[in-house]
Amino acid sequence: MFWRSVVGKLAITILLLVSFVLFILSILLLEFFEGFHVQEAENGLIETASKISLVVEERDDHEMVAEMAERIKDPTSKVMIYYPDGTLWSSETTNSSLKTLDDALPRFEDELQTAITENEDYSSKITISNQSPEIMVIGRPLIDEDGAIFVFQSLDVLDQTKAETTKIIFVAAAIAIVLTTIFAFFLSTRITLPLVQMKEAATELAKGEFNTKLPVVSNDEIGELAVAFNQMGKQLNYSINALRQEKEQMKSVVKSMADGVITLTRDAKIIVINPPAERFIQDWCFENNIEFNNYNDQLPDELKIILQHIIKEEKEELQELNLQGRDWVTIMTPLYDNSYVRGAVAVIRDMTEERQSDKLRKDFIANVSHELRTPIALMQGYSEAIVDDIAESKEDKNEIAQIIHDESLRMSRLVNELLDIGRMEAGHIELNITSFDMYDFKNRIYRKFVGMASDSNINFSIDVLHEESVITADEDRLEQVLTNLIDNAFRHTKQDGSVYATLGIKDNQLLIEVTDNGVGIPEKDLSFIFERFYKADKSRTRSDSKKGTGLGLAITKHIVDAHEGTISVKSKVNEGTTFSVKIPQ
Ligand SMILES: Nc1ncnc2c1ncn2[C@@H]1O[C@H](COP(=O)(O)OP(=O)(O)OP(=O)(O)O)[C@@H](O)[C@H]1O
Ligand SMILES: [Mg+2]
Repeated sequence: MFWRSVVGKLAITILLLVSFVLFILSILLLEFFEGFHVQEAENGLIETASKISLVVEERDDHEMVAEMAERIKDPTSKVMIYYPDGTLWSSETTNSSLKTLDDALPRFEDELQTAITENEDYSSKITISNQSPEIMVIGRPLIDEDGAIFVFQSLDVLDQTKAETTKIIFVAAAIAIVLTTIFAFFLSTRITLPLVQMKEAATELAKGEFNTKLPVVSNDEIGELAVAFNQMGKQLNYSINALRQEKEQMKSVVKSMADGVITLTRDAKIIVINPPAERFIQDWCFENNIEFNNYNDQLPDELKIILQHIIKEEKEELQELNLQGRDWVTIMTPLYDNSYVRGAVAVIRDMTEERQSDKLRKDFIANVSHELRTPIALMQGYSEAIVDDIAESKEDKNEIAQIIHDESLRMSRLVNELLDIGRMEAGHIELNITSFDMYDFKNRIYRKFVGMASDSNINFSIDVLHEESVITADEDRLEQVLTNLIDNAFRHTKQDGSVYATLGIKDNQLLIEVTDNGVGIPEKDLSFIFERFYKADKSRTRSDSKKGTGLGLAITKHIVDAHEGTISVKSKVNEGTTFSVKIPQ
């Protein structure tokens, strides 16, 4: 592991390099010192030889010369003097290998004689035996005479010096290597410490810890790298924060949207979904009898099919779905990763309300125009009859005029009722609440209908129940309610029938009931009769002279609602009908 790290590699490289240099240096030094010592020894011997030769030339006394030669020479060396008279003097020596030289001399006699005969300096190395060390010989001939001085020095003295030098060099090299090792580790650790820190910081960064900072300890490239690294971390932190905020914003926008939003991957996995879209999926599961668990696995099949289309066609697609009686419109748009469709986003809108109000508006226009067409057609026909003089007698003309008058009244009533209901539906109903006497109120209504009752031969009565006699309500509007209900009862009761109304206050509630024993309302129509323009039996009411518009009960319900009351109906065909109104007091 260590060898693979930068510290290891660097330290080993430095060590190898230094070792190599030291090795070469040591060899060169050893070579140099060896040569140097030999040269030194040779010089020493030459010097000794020349000094002794001077003595020999100056003195004739052999003993004296020998004595001086002993003094001049190094104790470890050996001097031999070949006098011109043929005598040979050989000095003492402390060196053991030179002690045997006298015995071995005859072997080298001839060689040494050449120095004397050729009369020039002689330098050579000789070996007495295989075991003994080399011996350096320096010869100096005596000037103008047949004699010479030879100085011998055993090289084993040099070997000792050489061994000393080698030892010193090796010790120095060893110290250098130890120091280099320490230095190499120190240096490489110093260089690589910031790198190690950087590696750790980068790992932290990768884990999402964007606030990691590196200490900048130097001004070199590593320091610059640390500065750049810190800047990168800061920039990343900023970008990630910006992204997070944007994501948060998008999330809350999607969440608060009224439309459903689903983001899908290419393989129909849901990534983002908002509450309206969740409701849509729940409805879909309910409709298809699938148990709802989690959104991911339960993407509606219809959406899956659209997704497939989008991936294939690469263009926006719109589709309508009907779930649980509600109309949903889905718009799916592809999402791209460069040019590759990576998924899609579906916007799902609940269009039920829009569709209903659209239908109501269309129905309303159709109903109004239908209601207006009949009186207009009648008035047109009869007025043409007058213009074309078809009605001859005065009675005929009166009758026609009467019909035109009735129809115009009917039209104006329709228009007034429409205005009324329009205002009420827009929420502009203003109540003028007062307290008034119940009996006066009852009498006024009774007088209104008593004539009609005797004309139609119908038993009619209004009774006040209970003692309480003061009503708190909008008097005119309440009269409109009762008038509408009694008018309906009269219109749907045959001759000799009876219409019976009661008024009373019980448990702080005004209770009004209008009962007749007329034709009744079929059960299937009961829940619709409070809708505007609704008529239970259209054909019958059309032929009736007192045609209704179908708005009376709608207006009645609006008034009761404005009083925060309730209206209900009970009816049986051919037995009769009872309308009950309750208004809190
Ligand atoms: N007492 C009743 N007996 C039988 N049917 C009734 C009775 N009251 C109402 N209806 C039915 O309910 C329908 C709606 O009544 P509503 O009062 O809203 O309209 P209308 O009487 O036809 O017209 P308008 O009251 O505007 O002149 C009537 O057309 C009738 O078919
Ligand atoms: Mg009516």
